[in-house]
Amino acid sequence: MHILIGGGSGFVGSALTARFRARGDKVTWVSRAPGPDRISWLDVAAGRVPECDVVINLAGEHILNLRRRWNDEYRRDLVRSRVGTTSSLVNALNAMAKPPAVFISTAGKCFYGTAEVAADSRYPELDEYSRPMAMDFPASMVALWEDAANAIDTARIRHVHVRLGIILGAVERVSLLAKLWRIGRGRGILPLIRLPFCLGLGAVMGHGRQPMPWIHIDDVVGLFEHLVDARASRGRYNAVAPGIVSNREFTELLASRLHRPITWAAPASLVRAVVGEDRASILLDGQNVKPRRTLESGYFFRYPELQGALQDLVQITI
Ligand SMILES: NC(=O)c1ccc[n+]([C@@H]2O[C@H](COP(=O)([O-])OP(=O)(O)OC[C@H]3O[C@@H](n4cnc5c(N)ncnc54)[C@H](OP(=O)(O)O)[C@@H]3O)[C@@H](O)[C@H]2O)c1
Repeated sequence: MHILIGGGSGFVGSALTARFRARGDKVTWVSRAPGPDRISWLDVAAGRVPECDVVINLAGEHILNLRRRWNDEYRRDLVRSRVGTTSSLVNALNAMAKPPAVFISTAGKCFYGTAEVAADSRYPELDEYSRPMAMDFPASMVALWEDAANAIDTARIRHVHVRLGIILGAVERVSLLAKLWRIGRGRGILPLIRLPFCLGLGAVMGHGRQPMPWIHIDDVVGLFEHLVDARASRGRYNAVAPGIVSNREFTELLASRLHRPITWAAPASLVRAVVGEDRASILLDGQNVKPRRTLESGYFFRYPELQGALQDLVQITI
């Protein structure tokens, strides 16, 4: 197959590319940077999309890019990089005489929004049939992103929409120096938080009861492959492991994997000051997201529980 991936150079895109190429598929990226086996977003806007079987869009400015100041310009870039790239692809695909068989659009679990849940109450279960709990900035952005994807011509193109949870990737050592910080090729949240945890600075976020819908990168790849191949699949699928944990459970499991204690909890006010009010909800208020349609589709998770995922991903412990 020929697979076109918008934002293919990123964490998820490169893992997907490696998997599809390993099985003999041809992969082309839509990227802002020139290079071999790439086309640009200008090509897409001009309708110069090569004939292909599958199109996946993963492009988007990172929402937790701490090198950028949280302001209107950053917020606009977050929305534009998702809605703009998706609309551009959708318009180009709808106009093709021979469109791809399947279009996979993506978004995050932030779709479900966040709401305060009393200490003695349970977080409501949310699956692919649920509506958002409330609309915060990330949820409003995802709503616009999903609207753009829903404009695809479903009479001619099978539309699959994947809502991704927090993706866990490998913490691997490739050199002694790299061991100290962002380990080797590791991407996603784990390589970033490993050092603070090793220094004993790993912290529960706020009250720590908030659910953390997570997924192992191998399951993200496995699920995309499954959804490409399973021709009956269409509509929304939650890419989150069945074994959801609270932030406190996540923190304690990671700390114990690294043989370190958890000595403190970061107060909500500190988290808000560091990452900004609008996106602090991502860390402080979770969503109890279930992969109901994903399991019904016959997808079998390789890592349904966090303990097994961490054992696989965090090989270097101190
Ligand atoms: N990783 C997670 O835990 C997670 C969780 C939920 C949802 N998601 C969503 O899933 C998608 C893929 O995630 P990821 O972790 O692979 O992201 P990533 O590593 O940040 O990669 C996203 C790619 O998007 C492109 N991009 C970045 N800024 C852009 C901009 N301003 N305009 C156009 N393209 C831009 C980049 O490709 P080029 O540099 O080649 O253009 C980049 O490689 C993202 O949209 C993300 O929001 C991720």
